[in-house]
Amino acid sequence: MEDEIICNCMQVSKHEIVDSIKNKGAINVQDVMDITSAGTACGSCIDKIEEIVKSER
Ligand code: FES
Repeated sequence: MEDEIICNCMQVSKHEIVDSIKNKGAINVQDVMDITSAGTACGSCIDKIEEIVKSER
């Protein structure tokens, strides 16, 4: 589901992460973190972010 929350700490949805990759030039997890703030608090969602980065490339 596109609006599923991937990062609970920062309330970042899958849609925002995909958007950062497709439309904002993110090519890796660090870029997604910089653009969306996902993964910048507890870090437990980083594996999920990585999966999305891999599946969108
Ligand atoms: S769930 Fe993403 S930083 Fe905590």
